[in-house]
Amino acid sequence: MDRRKFMQTTAALAGMSIAAKTVAANAQMSMDKDSEAYWKTIMAQYKVTDEFINLNAGHWGIMSEPVREAFAKHSEFINAYSSFYVGHGKAAIPSARNFYVERGEILEMIAAKLGVRSDEVVFTRGATESMQLLISGYNKIEPGDTVLYADAAYYSMAAEMRHLKVHRKANVVELKMPDPASYENTIGLFEQALKDNPKTKLILLTHMANRTGVVLPVKEISAMARNHGADVIVDMAHSWGQMDFDFVDQGVDFAGFNLHKWIGAPLGVGIMYIKKNRMLDIDTKSSKGPPGNDDINNRVQTGTMNLAAVMSVRDALNFVDAIGIKAIDKRFRALRHRWVKEFIDDDRVDILSPEDPRMHCGLTSFRINAHKDAAALGRQLLADYAINTAAIPQLNGIRVSPGLYSSLEDMDALAAAIKDIVNKMG
Ligand SMILES: Cc1ncc(COP(=O)(O)O)c(C=O)c1O
Repeated sequence: MDRRKFMQTTAALAGMSIAAKTVAANAQMSMDKDSEAYWKTIMAQYKVTDEFINLNAGHWGIMSEPVREAFAKHSEFINAYSSFYVGHGKAAIPSARNFYVERGEILEMIAAKLGVRSDEVVFTRGATESMQLLISGYNKIEPGDTVLYADAAYYSMAAEMRHLKVHRKANVVELKMPDPASYENTIGLFEQALKDNPKTKLILLTHMANRTGVVLPVKEISAMARNHGADVIVDMAHSWGQMDFDFVDQGVDFAGFNLHKWIGAPLGVGIMYIKKNRMLDIDTKSSKGPPGNDDINNRVQTGTMNLAAVMSVRDALNFVDAIGIKAIDKRFRALRHRWVKEFIDDDRVDILSPEDPRMHCGLTSFRINAHKDAAALGRQLLADYAINTAAIPQLNGIRVSPGLYSSLEDMDALAAAIKDIVNKMG
């Protein structure tokens, strides 16, 4: 390819990649975001199978069409330009696109949204990687110190905490979440645990519990931990992008995020956050130089990432922005309320996240008290009612997590299915 043609191709592909054809159609922007008509325009931007109603958005999100199209274009670009895009090209052709420059811009966007510095966030391949790096890398634990977490934690993060017994000779304590949970009894659980375990150094918190949808009072527990001389590492896999909250206000120094759940980016992207003045408290990776440097990049070693997925984060953030996180939060609450309200006064069905608006958003689980096999119940919902959910056998529950592609009618169908099952059980 001659140089001129090459430059033209670069420019054309660059043009396409910027085209985050997000929701932002002007007409749509002026619509009332509380109206079903508005949400129908959002739903129309998702291509979702009609073979079943998908109420398992919590596993991972479905990309909206503008994001999926952008991802396809980014993939096409990466496939055409290959490693030229990660740097070799820049030396020869200064105007060439460069992954590190674009990644930096996207990190700036993320940092601005979180209200933090861009050198406090780094890409990972998901919340698991972010959280495991933070828990295993946290180096302030002396042998005999206590580390604690509640059974609301995601299983692999809980495992990483238990491993601190071997890795750092820590005393590991697992707390049992109150059932039903309330704002007060959840704070009380950690308050008591800190009293019972004066040598507590580290607490793992899960902002939104994946099994129940319970939102933990992170700000209050973090402040309590700080007064006690303990740190918290927070798993925000389910909160960022689903709920409207102020990250800085939580007073958290270490956190892991997913971008492929509620932000709607392609699979394979997450974020790790470390407050700049706490950087040395997380170990560097052996391949990234000696300890003592405070570059967040030296605390992650992903190897080659899915660059097109990283590039699409910009498009996904633009899509979220075009709707607005306040409207998204409100929509998820409306979808939850639509089915949950049917069971508030029904003793046969337990809703596993509290009605207190501080303690839930869209994702919520339920339990049919007389039904003792959650996996079978999940299969029944799919086979008899074409509704896909996630069975939570540990709690004998079913997790319901709608997406922005979900309609109020989908939630009505779920409520009708639960009622039908319960009524047939007699
Ligand atoms: C609370 C929580 N943390 C972390 C994860 C892990 O996310 P990923 O598998 O995308 O890394 C999940 C996944 O469902 C989760 O629910």
